[in-house]
Amino acid sequence: MVRIAPSLLSADFGKLREEIEDVTAGGAEWLHLDVMDGHFVPNITFGPFIVRAIRRLTELYLDCHLMIEDPLRYAPQFAAAGADLVTFHLEVDQDPAAVIDAIEAEGAKAGMVVNPATDVRLLKPWLDRCHLVLVMSVVPGFGGQSFMPEVLEKLTILREELGYKGLLELDGGVAPDTAAACKAAGADVLVAGSAVFKKQDRAKAIQAIRTA
Ligand code: DX5
Ligand code: ZN
Repeated sequence: MVRIAPSLLSADFGKLREEIEDVTAGGAEWLHLDVMDGHFVPNITFGPFIVRAIRRLTELYLDCHLMIEDPLRYAPQFAAAGADLVTFHLEVDQDPAAVIDAIEAEGAKAGMVVNPATDVRLLKPWLDRCHLVLVMSVVPGFGGQSFMPEVLEKLTILREELGYKGLLELDGGVAPDTAAACKAAGADVLVAGSAVFKKQDRAKAIQAIRTA
């Protein structure tokens, strides 16, 4: 069964506790936390301080997506703040093995992310160390963008050509009308921001994605 990871990016941060309770009651298994630094992407969200606060509010699996230039420096802080999984982008100019070591040293799982324009085969040297690979289905930075179906073949390449055995996640533009294609392509985890938090009835929204 596919896991749904609502992205807090589209939630109302003025009532974070209720928002999290709402998607928990609605059947979400994971919570997706989008961290942006204003450099790697042209938007700024939140840091480890907020992740720590969220950790105190929920037992949901915290999936922390770092869209930041310097994960080697900051990723361990997100792991220490209570993230269960910390993912970082292949496109940053750092040694992935060192970032993975730093995340694992703080007791979290590590994963890597590829942007829509990036050749997924470039992940090959580190795949055996990735608990999860996140394939972006929008250009990262903002919620509410349109799903890019052309990225789906990356999941097939990961499984069939590269023999990747870990979890596969898609992020960006996932909604009831795109979820079936995501599942068919082999996704284990679907991130959904606006398709969950911009709906009145979150349980219904999550169910609509799951059963699509
Ligand atoms: C995009 C983020 C996504 C975003 C998804 O930069 O990584 O997680 O919140 O939002 P939707 O589901 O609205 O495309
Ligand atoms: Zn994300």
